Amino acid sequence: MTSSLATVSYIAATILFILSLGGLANPETARRGNLLGIIGMAIAVLATVLGPRVTPTGYAWIVGALAVGGGIGLFAAKKVQMTQMPELVALMHSLVGLAACLVGFASYVDTSTVFATSAEKSIHEVEIYVGILIGAVTFSGSIIAFGKLSGKIGGKPLTLPARHWLNLALLLIAVWYGREFLHAHDIASGMTPLLVMTVVALLFGIHMVMAIGGADMPVVVSMLNSYSGWAAAATGFMLSNDLLIVVGALVGSSGAILSYIMCRAMNRNFISVIAGGFGGGAPAPAAAGGAAQPAGEVAPILALETAELLREAKNVIIVPGYGMAVAQAQHTVYEITKVLREKGVNVRFGIHPVAGRMPGHMNVLLAEAKVPYDIVLEMDELNDDFPKTDVSIVIGANDIVNPAAQDDPASPIAGMPVLEVWKAKTSIVMKRSMASGYAGVDNPLFYKDNNRMLFGDAKKMLDEVLAALKG
Ligand code: TAP
Repeated sequence: MTSSLATVSYIAATILFILSLGGLANPETARRGNLLGIIGMAIAVLATVLGPRVTPTGYAWIVGALAVGGGIGLFAAKKVQMTQMPELVALMHSLVGLAACLVGFASYVDTSTVFATSAEKSIHEVEIYVGILIGAVTFSGSIIAFGKLSGKIGGKPLTLPARHWLNLALLLIAVWYGREFLHAHDIASGMTPLLVMTVVALLFGIHMVMAIGGADMPVVVSMLNSYSGWAAAATGFMLSNDLLIVVGALVGSSGAILSYIMCRAMNRNFISVIAGGFGGGAPAPAAAGGAAQPAGEVAPILALETAELLREAKNVIIVPGYGMAVAQAQHTVYEITKVLREKGVNVRFGIHPVAGRMPGHMNVLLAEAKVPYDIVLEMDELNDDFPKTDVSIVIGANDIVNPAAQDDPASPIAGMPVLEVWKAKTSIVMKRSMASGYAGVDNPLFYKDNNRMLFGDAKKMLDEVLAALKG
């Protein structure tokens, strides 16, 4: 392939990636967006492999690497449960970081590139240094995020004394060794500062994510997504590959925007998330002046009674959460929705931006069950409608419907916008026990007078409700 054809292919791939991102912004166009992304990536890989910078002697290596990487990817995609997706994503980010580090070291020891001026050489060395720095932070941070999300490392934030000073010290060490690196006369003497900085960056990544509590992990995953994009862009600079720079910048900026949106959805300040120390994952203590513990009795309800309430309702709002994903209850939810809609009941779904364990988790599940998009609404679109609603059903959700976020300033989730299901005439919460949700805080909703608890596995309970509705 000539270099001009490779450039045209890169431009086509870039356009396809931008269209892909645009498509992924909406559930109705997400499938198309995904397809455009796949085509763009296929063009990008082909144009790189067949392009002028790869000699035929390298083909065997590339095919071998594709077979190994593709095989692992295929295996992981088939084996991983939907609920384990965030940890898989975190692991994938770590690979991008590792790749940036390896490419950085390889470019440094590669003596084949001839620089016209010493300024050009310095620019290349800055690219290598910054690329390895971002890559190492992304790598170690993502491994810790994987450990936390999969429960292999505890969710409690590690708050070392003077941890902000420690971070500042690590940053200053990295800057100092950067100076040493740029002043090195040969590769051997430049290697020491590069290796020291890599170790410092790895420690920084570990410390940064260890300091962030379980409740903030969603933001961390999307922040690491953003870092992995910048690491890829840095790799693009090192390899003088324009496509990698553009794609890295797209991933980096979209990850940053997503982090911001998620922070807003959880009423968290981005800087305070990164600074860490929040979201220990343990229930708040009921000390004087501390978070008030919900008290009172809960009123259980049977599936048969739930079906009766639904049959008599005119307006129903269903709020799905993580438990619906665990129980894989989305198909039964839609069966119930169809039966109710046939009876003239206005059924809508309320989706919280951080419901489940990954952005868009609920939308994906409902789309899989073929729930029409026009009855799936964002939290802001229908929060005002709860007072006009006869029955709100919460299916395996907890934190996202917790009134303590509004009523209790001492609650760890205080200020997080929530779906106000308790404002409906009757709210029904479907879950297996009184256990708390991801943030580890109690939920006063369960004790409200107009709330009923339908205890059991969401799929099993919904099957019973469906049978009663049809019966
Ligand atoms: P959670 O607050 O985690 O509550 C889920 C509830 O589902 C649990 O209380 C659990 O109660 C119930 N459950 C589990 N398995 C069930 C089953 N088989 N049948 C019925 N119920 C079941 O979930 P949420 O309300 O969706 O809120 C999401 C939380 O996760 C937020 O705190 C959010 O910050 C966090 N988070 C979100 C993301 C993203 S990006 N969405 C990523 C990571 C973390 P029982 O055990 O009693 O059944």
